[in-house]
Amino acid sequence: MRRKIVAGNWKMNTLPSEGLALAKDVIAKSAEVSSGVELVVIPPFTHLNEVTKLASGTRVAVGAQNCARWQSGAYTGEVSAAMLGAMGVEYVIIGHSERREYFGETNSQLYDKIQQALSSNLMPIFCCGEKLDEREANQHFQVVKQQVEESLFALDEQSIKQVVIAYEPVWAIGTGRTATTEQAQEMHAYIRNLIAGKYGSQIADSISILYGGSCKPSNAAEIFAKPDVDGGLIGGASLVAADFIAIAKSF
Ligand code: G3P
Repeated sequence: MRRKIVAGNWKMNTLPSEGLALAKDVIAKSAEVSSGVELVVIPPFTHLNEVTKLASGTRVAVGAQNCARWQSGAYTGEVSAAMLGAMGVEYVIIGHSERREYFGETNSQLYDKIQQALSSNLMPIFCCGEKLDEREANQHFQVVKQQVEESLFALDEQSIKQVVIAYEPVWAIGTGRTATTEQAQEMHAYIRNLIAGKYGSQIADSISILYGGSCKPSNAAEIFAKPDVDGGLIGGASLVAADFIAIAKSF
């Protein structure tokens, strides 16, 4: 049985006091969500110390939005996976399209980050997805195939099983233009088949693949009903606790 996961990527939003209040609200409302659905809040680095303390002992897990490619050292401004793990962080987003876009993160660098995350017992949420021009050129499968192969396929079987994948069509992120359920299911199935081809269907069937890109309370149920969609990586809607919980209740 694959894990159902709804994770809220807060991105660069909320001041620490606002973030703490949001986390408190999500935790308070979490009892409304089926126990079979895992909830994850993913605040900015600045909030992690307080939010991990608040979430400790609750059913809400905490993630980080990024981690360094290196274990430690002279890398000004970076935050290591070990530092995150020591704070009680359980998940880390790797390769969000905004990091690929604004910080030039390559598939190879993302493999390094995944290795760092796994070494610190963090569960990577590996993001993949195509840009609008790539979809319009019918290159979306090739783009995602390259992202998955170059960042994941050097992992051994034990490691790949720890990875959560998030398919986030870039053209749907923050645009209000959600992928159709057919588009989401088609790409999720394609990703799962890629993994099956490398690691076998038993491992492929065990890996959770989340959808991200304008997922809202109004569309989550139809998206989550698709056989290869195992939850969502939520952006804007995760900044309102009631909306984030409503999405998580959509299974
Ligand atoms: O990581 C999730 C995010 O990229 C999706 O953003 O605002 O379209 O839900 P949003």
